[in-house]
Amino acid sequence: MAEEGIEKLIRPELAGFDGYAASKSSQTLEGKVDIPVEDIIKLDANENPYGCSPRVTRALADYTDINLYPDSEQTELRQQLQAYTGISMSHIVAGAGSDQLIDLVMRLFLKPGDEVINCIPTFAMFRFFIKLCNGTPVEVPRDENFKVDVNAVKKAITDKTKLILLATPNNPTGTMTPYKDILEILDTGVPVLVDEAYYEFTSETIAPLVGKYKNLMVLRTFSKWAGLAGLRVGYGMFPTKIADYLLRIKEPYCVNVAALVAVRESLEEIDYLMSNVKTIIAERERLFSRLKKMQWLNPYPSQANFILCSVLKGKAKELQQRLEDRGILVRYFDQPLLEDSLRISIGRPEENDILMETLNELGEELND
Ligand SMILES: Cc1ncc(COP(=O)(O)O)c(C=O)c1O
Repeated sequence: MAEEGIEKLIRPELAGFDGYAASKSSQTLEGKVDIPVEDIIKLDANENPYGCSPRVTRALADYTDINLYPDSEQTELRQQLQAYTGISMSHIVAGAGSDQLIDLVMRLFLKPGDEVINCIPTFAMFRFFIKLCNGTPVEVPRDENFKVDVNAVKKAITDKTKLILLATPNNPTGTMTPYKDILEILDTGVPVLVDEAYYEFTSETIAPLVGKYKNLMVLRTFSKWAGLAGLRVGYGMFPTKIADYLLRIKEPYCVNVAALVAVRESLEEIDYLMSNVKTIIAERERLFSRLKKMQWLNPYPSQANFILCSVLKGKAKELQQRLEDRGILVRYFDQPLLEDSLRISIGRPEENDILMETLNELGEELND
């Protein structure tokens, strides 16, 4: 069959699907910048600059059962997550990153044309999965401080609304959605997916209400606080009926054996991991006050492991490129409600120092 013949068979609603602009790996810069790959400072994907716990690397080196499939019921993993969260395992389902759970929840709820309320600007994967799962995104803009506009969310609900998405803290703005706002949205009765990917940086959670509200679902991940982004493991807490459906529709072996080992070991070393989280929070506050002093940048307060800044002089894209040329990767945004903005993930103190020095130099250059 000719190539255009095959193309005709592709779902037409995916013709304009752009995919996700994923972060760059340091290796892609090899030979393009004058900095050795190992010295590149990667502040573009909200990864953990301290890596995983040392127990994880040791246990993975010793692991031998790679030839065997993992337990598709995730029994041990869900027991461990029950102990960690205090939520019964009958509510818990794990996946290959919380990304996979966003996908599964949408697959479970959406039929073509169903609406999903998305409070923009927010995590770009939300829109990605709504589109991929044949839904219609209904975008409700946040206010000027990036807070969710609860009244506008309520007004946007129609008889086609199947889900409301709330990331708290929100990516890329770092903004929390207060408990009372989440409760007000839950009271509408529409299923609400609360994404707490950065929970360990805030300690604020709505999870204890899972099960009490039949429409509340909460997602978490090991990518950020536990430094396991590369192993892809996240989990969600759901009303038991929803959890049962998700366990049935998930790919049977979606959490791989390396991820299972890594979660088990991480949960044996929570104090170590949380001390890194504390350092990241302290660094976030140090970086915030330094950025605030740079007249040409406007940082927004953040409760996560990154800071969003408006770039007031020049273009964010150009600044991102100049940082990249000097071996520092950050994320830039230039879209409605997020014009000329940079999102900087918090690195180690020495990395943040280099970033700040470089920004000071670039600020001078932009002055010239
Ligand atoms: C709000 C939010 N949800 C989910 C994720 C994805 O996490 P995971 O690595 O568990 O798929 C991210 C990652 O950046 C995020 O910012």
